Amino acid sequence: MNRDAIGVFDSGLGGLTAVKALNQLLPNENIIFFGDTARVPYGTRSRQTILRYTKEDVAFLRRHPVKMIIAACGTVSSMLGTDSPVNDIPFTGVVYPAAKKASEVTKNGRVGVIGTPATIKSGSYETALHNMNSKIDVTAMPCPLLVHLVEYGYTDRNNQITRLAAEEYLTPIRNAGVDTLIMGCTHYPIIREIIADIMGDGVTLLSAGEEAAQYAKLCLEEQDLLTDSTEPGHNIYYVSDSVSSFRENAKNFLADAAHGQVFSSRI
Ligand code: DGL
Repeated sequence: MNRDAIGVFDSGLGGLTAVKALNQLLPNENIIFFGDTARVPYGTRSRQTILRYTKEDVAFLRRHPVKMIIAACGTVSSMLGTDSPVNDIPFTGVVYPAAKKASEVTKNGRVGVIGTPATIKSGSYETALHNMNSKIDVTAMPCPLLVHLVEYGYTDRNNQITRLAAEEYLTPIRNAGVDTLIMGCTHYPIIREIIADIMGDGVTLLSAGEEAAQYAKLCLEEQDLLTDSTEPGHNIYYVSDSVSSFRENAKNFLADAAHGQVFSSRI
């Protein structure tokens, strides 16, 4: 049993997809979230830069009492591979949990992956999927504009600009006949409805952030680190840029992030 918080970080809003899932799965846990909004996007930067940011994000979270860290970021997870940035508390990224779920749910063995340019270039999801089942056929596509559109708040189901960009990226994946799509960047489930409309009913959409939250729950259970509190947990949000634009953009996705405790913090 441990009452410390779960630390979650991302470059921006995407990490909220993991926070939302954690709140549903583990309602008594406290969460400390860090969004590096001053430096988003990560996914168009070099591996070296992303790893430097990762180190700083983890160091920021470790200034608080955290019992586990989740890199709720496909880009960071892809650059880390199987390395962990901490050695004394549990850690997970999003790649392994999402790939594991995809390998379990695909029926036709064709899996699509969308992610940032750095994620797709790394081949991280492909490697993880092939380690689980070498026969899985993977169609992967970088979607560089989607993080910007989400951070800018272009998330409404009827937003024509986001729809157009998503059509462009998703058409080759739909044409490849995948039955499962990993939304391998945690920003993408924020526009899940648009993605679902384009991919159609027959395709299972997997959120990397949600899968990481499920996996984190298992890790905490296994290591006996869940809280024994019966009170509702609290989320505290830190961002490295403007609090007001974070609140504004977060409000449609996670009401608590728009109204709860949000602080601006230098890292
Ligand atoms: N949400 C992140 C990811 O999952 C990062 C997006 C970005 O900063 O480019 O890849």
